[in-house]
Amino acid sequence: MPTDLQGLRREIEALGPWFHNLHLPDGLQTAPDHAYGDFPSFKWQHVAQALPEDLRGWRVLDIGCNAGFYSIELARRGATVLGIDVEPLYVRQARWAAARFGLTDRLRFEEGEVYQLARAQCRFDLVWFTGVFYHLRYPTLALDLVRGVTAHLLMFQTMTMPGADALATPEDLPLDEREALLDPGWPKMAFIEHRLANDATNWWAPNHACVEALLRSAGFEVVARPEHEFYLCRPVPEVPPADLERVLAILDNAGPLGGLRPGR
Ligand SMILES: C[S@@+](CC[C@H](N)C(=O)[O-])C[C@H]1O[C@@H](n2cnc3c(N)ncnc32)[C@H](O)[C@@H]1O
Repeated sequence: MPTDLQGLRREIEALGPWFHNLHLPDGLQTAPDHAYGDFPSFKWQHVAQALPEDLRGWRVLDIGCNAGFYSIELARRGATVLGIDVEPLYVRQARWAAARFGLTDRLRFEEGEVYQLARAQCRFDLVWFTGVFYHLRYPTLALDLVRGVTAHLLMFQTMTMPGADALATPEDLPLDEREALLDPGWPKMAFIEHRLANDATNWWAPNHACVEALLRSAGFEVVARPEHEFYLCRPVPEVPPADLERVLAILDNAGPLGGLRPGR
């Protein structure tokens, strides 16, 4: 690895494009001209305050870690972090960055899918699940899987639709009272059939009420909102009412309909 800055710049360029602007120990940045500003550093300034300074002994899973900004910050606080991302380029960036920060003993990055958590054999003290939910075609499945691997804390973030209202929804809604669904505070998620911000993987935009309802429904309680669209959550002991195990068994082709054949 070159120690001169020119060589470093060449490596940064060769590994681009970068979505995370990492401030490297050598003083260089990976995306200094980022369209969002100093991203995600300006988010981290707020989010960081909701977390313990000392994370020694914590096991963290960073889902959709990208170039590893959050993984690196959490490892700098002492945590042992596994970052996964579906994009090989981002995994390469994150591994390279971990080496620059001298954190390879506590940081591991692997190509991986949130849906692989269905077969995870372990749990993590903190699960970091930011910037991914709305990119998923099957977001509630993913959230249920995330619940299954969260031992103590979840940091959740999603793109949302505007509005901060949150209605206390009734235990039961009569069929002929569905006008209530149009209330701005009713939990809703906009489906984006085409593109948002020119990105065809931006599938969903829940409102704030929907984020909280989804989290509750998956078995989490929100304990802090350290930044716009960020929700720090604790898993609640009750088993969530999702039929996750049944769905997973069916996807494994081992459920009761696993052998379904077309009829005559
Ligand atoms: C908007 S970026 C968010 C990056 C980072 N988590 C953050 O909050 O800044 C979305 C990231 O999720 C990754 N991703 C998308 N779908 C995924 C999936 N099914 N499983 C794991 N990662 C995924 C993308 O490759 C990308 O790195």
